Amino acid sequence: MKLLIINGPNLNLLGTREPDTYGNESFEEYFSKLQFKFRDAELSYEQSNIEGELIDAIQKADEDFDGIVLNAAAYTHTSVGIGDAIKAISTPVVEVHISNTFSREKFRHKSYISPNAVGIIIGFGLQSYDLAISSFINK
Ligand code: DQA
Repeated sequence: MKLLIINGPNLNLLGTREPDTYGNESFEEYFSKLQFKFRDAELSYEQSNIEGELIDAIQKADEDFDGIVLNAAAYTHTSVGIGDAIKAISTPVVEVHISNTFSREKFRHKSYISPNAVGIIIGFGLQSYDLAISSFINK
């Protein structure tokens, strides 16, 4: 099974960015652990700070991947375009968030991703990605 993790803006700073909220581990470090744990799957990872690049990645993944694990980060709460991209493809998308967005500011309670996602995993730290991958594999 081929799965693509797509991370949105500022998630390239995981490890140093607001560690009380997002932890001390870089995504690259965590991604190697995921690759080892799910070594029977083919995991890929992309990150961009640019909305259009995230839309391009989602569109392209439709041909190449069986599933997408998407943390659109701040664009979750603003991007009609990313929401529409998910609607436009047939590859299933699981939305993830590291922090519990519902225990934070009100503007983080709105998601343009959720209505078009097959499922949502929120608030388990980096483990949210592990749970999302498991949801595809344990089907
Ligand atoms: C986030 C939550 C978003 O509200 C925030 O803008 C992020 C990260 C999370 O994974 O907890 O950048 O998506």
